[in-house]
Amino acid sequence: MGGFISKILDYLNDTWGDTVLDSGFLPHFILRRVIRRELRRRLDEITPPFPQKVIDSVSARGNPALAAQLEDLASPKFTRMPGAFTPSSSWSRTLAYKMNFFETVRHQPIAIETDAANRQNYDVSTGIMENMLGPRIKYSCSYYSTGHETLEEAEIKMLDLYIERLDLRPGMRVLDVGCGWGAASLYFAEKIPDLEVVGFSNSRTQREYIEAKAKEMGLSNVRVITGNITNHEFDVGYFDRVLSVELFEHVKNYEGLMAKMSRALRTGGLLLVHHFCHRTTPYHYEDGWMARTFFTGGTMPSSDLLLYFQKDMTIKKHWWLNGYHYSKTLDHWLENTKTRKERMMPHLAETYGDDMAAVWHTRWKIFHLASSEMFKRDGGETWGVTHVLFEKPERRTVASIDLVSTDILRSGSERT
Ligand SMILES: C[S@@+](CC[C@H](N)C(=O)[O-])C[C@H]1O[C@@H](n2cnc3c(N)ncnc32)[C@H](O)[C@@H]1O
Repeated sequence: MGGFISKILDYLNDTWGDTVLDSGFLPHFILRRVIRRELRRRLDEITPPFPQKVIDSVSARGNPALAAQLEDLASPKFTRMPGAFTPSSSWSRTLAYKMNFFETVRHQPIAIETDAANRQNYDVSTGIMENMLGPRIKYSCSYYSTGHETLEEAEIKMLDLYIERLDLRPGMRVLDVGCGWGAASLYFAEKIPDLEVVGFSNSRTQREYIEAKAKEMGLSNVRVITGNITNHEFDVGYFDRVLSVELFEHVKNYEGLMAKMSRALRTGGLLLVHHFCHRTTPYHYEDGWMARTFFTGGTMPSSDLLLYFQKDMTIKKHWWLNGYHYSKTLDHWLENTKTRKERMMPHLAETYGDDMAAVWHTRWKIFHLASSEMFKRDGGETWGVTHVLFEKPERRTVASIDLVSTDILRSGSERT
């Protein structure tokens, strides 16, 4: 019996499975089993010792580059390294994997597949998001400090946490990069006097919604720029604070983006990045249903990923939020998606076409279910959310350091 179920699950994991998933007939208990198996597979691919069967499965799914990398990490050269017979050898392989990942992304554009991501998630009819998400249309993890919050309360708790962690004060200029439907931009502008808020995203529907909402709320201190983060340049040194919530997951070249954020900030300005993550190990979404349907070109960062990209910004603080917060958020979204189906359908039809509206309703449900399963795994300690606070330091370029040391040398030689 177990073998039979396993065969069905294998069948669902190949591309044929998409048709079965789209049909919406699959009971949720089978779906959850498929998802848990996928998560197990993912963990095997990013966790040493990378046995041959994992390498073979990566190869069979048509990812020769990753298969070759895992083969290299599984090779005896690692067991011959000093410390190989201590438990740390597994960590040394993880670090080698990470160093390779960081080196590769350094040579990529800031973001890839931006049009696909926009079509799948962002330039969609606002009516979908209004019905699916909470009242602030926060399309990111909310904060459940007691575990009994409604979605509305949890949205506000996370927004308040940003205010506290960014140390937002009256009169500041704030950039909300990847602003979505303005959850943070509108809340900040409403809460803090004399704030100048600029929202930035690549979606026209998001801008239209925020502008209309700001008018309705009588807020004249919010403006929105539509552009692609890969090529947009912000006014240099203009902002006191930058917030980025769940944009970095669409990014590859972190060094390039951190440099861009640094240019936008004044010296001493702060950048708070909120991104979801795997606790230790980053990976790309290259195959599988999630990559094909919702997250083409996406990345799962590790919690410490940005600490490796501090050329232009310096770390001040780092927090981990248990995956439970995201799992709860997604359960609330799933509930809304189920109960507000009738209200969502016209908007789904407007975005994806009449013939695909029902399919996309099913896909959104699977998306919430699968993501919630991921974040709740291992008590929320494997996948979660991280907040990283950076400061733009005083200018300290290599050239100026060289000048100082030359001066010291010169004055030293003058003395002799
Ligand atoms: C997951 S949403 C988060 C939205 C918002 N921060 C929130 O918490 O509700 C990611 C945001 O990043 C934007 N985004 C993704 N890729 C982008 C790109 N290449 N250029 C500009 N914005 C991008 C999306 O349009 C969206 O606004």
